[in-house]
Amino acid sequence: MTNWTEIHEHVQHWIREAGQRIKQSFSTTLHVQSKSNRNDLVTNIDRETEQYFIQRIRDTYPTHTILGEEGFGDDVNSLDGIVWIIDPIDGTMNFVHQQRNFAISIGIYEDGKGKLGYIYDVVHEELYWAQSGKGAFLNDQPLPPLEEGHVEDAVIALNATWVKPNKRIDHQLLIPLVQDVRGTRSYGSAAIEMAYVAAGRLDAYITMRLSPWDFAAGKIIVEELGGKMTKLNGEPLNLLEKSSVFVSKPGLHEKILTKYLHALK
Ligand code: IPD
Ligand code: CA
Ligand code: CA
Repeated sequence: MTNWTEIHEHVQHWIREAGQRIKQSFSTTLHVQSKSNRNDLVTNIDRETEQYFIQRIRDTYPTHTILGEEGFGDDVNSLDGIVWIIDPIDGTMNFVHQQRNFAISIGIYEDGKGKLGYIYDVVHEELYWAQSGKGAFLNDQPLPPLEEGHVEDAVIALNATWVKPNKRIDHQLLIPLVQDVRGTRSYGSAAIEMAYVAAGRLDAYITMRLSPWDFAAGKIIVEELGGKMTKLNGEPLNLLEKSSVFVSKPGLHEKILTKYLHALK
């Protein structure tokens, strides 16, 4: 039998220690490189942080599988067994430019089912986490279940990229939604945007292309609170694929899908 309480104790400790190391890097010179394009950044600290987790997981849980953004984990093409999905720094552009608004994101799945999810806002020392069936928390404080939301009262996270011509979506589609909601925000870290939906600071977050490590943790935390996380057309997310992501309070999810996103079906 897997001892999830013991895993949780380890992860909490590792995340806070990794966070300390990241903060110590603020006074050092970062080595910044581009990946798929000049705005897709990676630093030596992204790589070192992923290696930090992988070494500890391998030492403690040698039978577990690890999918990490920076490629130091396993070549994962199945969700069988216990799979850790890790983004060592989500919001690297913020990390490089602002030294804030980035997070460590870790989702742990067993045979495809979310078990433990963690999003750690390093600078604010806010750990959003959930254990499936046991509740979601911000540090030690339980987070209340998410209540039904309404479009006209909603503050949604959305990057301006998606309301100008782009290659992923007809940008005209989202303009009525932007007009009807109370406000829009963009924080530049998918994990933090999901944590904010979980904490009720945002009502929804819409984005066109995320990787499994961007949403693996957020999905567990948001769903534990009754929120919904799907592709933009309402289909379930696949933890082994890139996809669009629409995360929202309950009720609001259906309303936005039906009224604004139906053309995507
Ligand atoms: C990125 C951030 C960003 C999102 C990008 C992601 P990274 O992750 O979450 O908010 O818009 O799609 O790739 O590269 O900083 O880990
Ligand atoms: Ca990311
Ligand atoms: Ca990252």
